Amino acid sequence: MTNAPAGHAHVRDFHDDDLDGIVRLWERAHDLGMTPVYSLAEVVASCHADHAVVAVHGDRVLGAAVGRAAHAQGWIVFFHVDADGGADAERVGSQLLDRLERRMAALGLAKLSVLLTDAADSVSHLSENGFELRHQLRYLERPLPVQRRELDLLKTVGGRILPRHLWRNVAGMTKEKQLLEERLVTPLARPELAERFGVLPPRAVMLFGPPGTGKTTFAKAVASRLDWPFVEVFPSRLAETSSGLASALRQTFETIAELEHAVVFIDEVEEIASRRRGDPPSPTQGVTNELLKLLSEFRDLEGRLLICATNFVRTLDAAFLRHGRFDYVLPIGLPDAEARAAIWARYIPADVLAGIERDLLVDASEGLTPADIEYAARRAAQEALASALRAVPVTTATGAITVTGDDAPAALMTTADYLRALRSTRATVSKSAERDFLEDIDALARL
Ligand SMILES: Nc1ncnc2c1ncn2[C@@H]1O[C@H](COP(=O)(O)OP(=O)(O)OP(=O)(O)O)[C@@H](O)[C@H]1O
Ligand SMILES: [Mg+2]
Repeated sequence: MTNAPAGHAHVRDFHDDDLDGIVRLWERAHDLGMTPVYSLAEVVASCHADHAVVAVHGDRVLGAAVGRAAHAQGWIVFFHVDADGGADAERVGSQLLDRLERRMAALGLAKLSVLLTDAADSVSHLSENGFELRHQLRYLERPLPVQRRELDLLKTVGGRILPRHLWRNVAGMTKEKQLLEERLVTPLARPELAERFGVLPPRAVMLFGPPGTGKTTFAKAVASRLDWPFVEVFPSRLAETSSGLASALRQTFETIAELEHAVVFIDEVEEIASRRRGDPPSPTQGVTNELLKLLSEFRDLEGRLLICATNFVRTLDAAFLRHGRFDYVLPIGLPDAEARAAIWARYIPADVLAGIERDLLVDASEGLTPADIEYAARRAAQEALASALRAVPVTTATGAITVTGDDAPAALMTTADYLRALRSTRATVSKSAERDFLEDIDALARL
C-alpha cells in the first residue's frame, strides 16, 4: 500500500492533516543530502500562513510544494516529490507546481523563485515547468545572534548587539589582543576545540589598568568578536531602584541567566567590590557578598562571560580576585610605540596621514593613553578647521563658504598641528600611577 504508484496520486490544497506528511517529506529530503534551504519551521509556518499544495495517495503525502509571496516576488520555500512515487513522480511534480502557481497567481506576482541545494533532484521538474536555471548566483546566510524572544529579555537588562567591526577597530595593542583572543575568544567561540585541549572556557575576567587605556573598548570588542549581546550592568543605576542594589543585581543576573549568550560588563567594579573593612562593615559590604554569590552561580552557566574593569585593582576585596572566581586578571596598560602608531593612524584622516611624520607623533605621545591620543587628534583637527575658517573665507555665488589658502591645495593638517595639540594634552596617567600599575601587575595579574 505504501509503495502504491503515484499515478493514483491526487493533487490538492494543503489541509492541517497533511502536516505530518510534509514534515516527513522534509526530513526525507534532508536524509538524502538534499536539505532544503528553508528550515522545517519556516516550511511549516508557510503551510499555515501562505500557500501549500500536496500530492496524496490514500493518506500518504507523496509530494508537496509550498510558496510564499514577498512583494512582487514569490518564493517556493519547499518542493519535494518522493522518488518512490515511480516514473510518475515527474507528472506529480509538474501538477504540484501548476497548482501552486495558480494559487499564487492571484497575488499579482512578477516572478516565482526557488532555491535548491546542489544535490536536489527536482531541477528537471522545475525546468519543465518553465523555471530557468540562473547561473552565477551564490547563496549566503548568517545566523543572527539573537532571536526575537530574547530581544525582550535583552531590553530589560539594557543589553544590545554591538556592530561586528569593533574588534578590528581596536588599533595596535597586539599583545593584549592576542592574549584576549587566546584566553577568551577562542575557547568561548570554539568550545569543542577547547575541550579537546582540556582548556576550560573562561567565565569571568578582570581587566585592570589606568583610565583611558581601553578596558571598556576591549570588553565591547570581545562581545563583538564573539557575536554575543553586550550587557553592561551599572551598579549606580541599580542602586536607585526601590529594591536596593543587592536585590536589583540579583534580578539582573537572573534575567541574564535566561539569555542564550551574553558578555556581561561591570565597569568600575571597585565601587561594589572593594576590600571589606571597618567595624561595623561599610554599607557596600552586603553588595560585595551578594556579588560573590552571584559570581559563583554565574560560573555554572555556559555561553556567558563576565568582564569586570577597574582602575584600582589593589583596592578590590581579596576574596573577589581569588582563583576560581576570575579566570584571568589581565592588565591593560599604556600603548607601546607600535600601538601608538596604529592609534594615530586610526584618528588621523586617511588623506592627511600620508603627509604626516608619524614617528614624531609616536615619540611625542609616549606615556599617553589611547584616549589622550584621540583627544589630541581631535583637538588638532578642530584647531586646523578654526584657523582655516579665519583665513579669508570666500563666499561663492551659492552663498556657501569655501576655504582657500595661498598654497592650496595644502594638506588640511600637518605634523606641526598635531605636535602643537600634543603640547596642550595632559597625560592622564601620572608617573606614579604608572609605577603603581607595574606593581599591581607583579602582585595581582593572572594571565
Ligand atoms: N586600541 C585603541 N585604538 C583606538 N582607540 C582606542 C583604543 N583604546 C582605547 N581607545 C579610545 O580611547 C577612549 C577610551 O577608551 P576606554 O573607554 O576603552 O578606556 P577605559 O580603559 O575603559 O577607561 P576608564 O578606565 O576611564 O573607563 C575611547 O574613546 C576609545 O575609543
Ligand atoms: Mg572604561
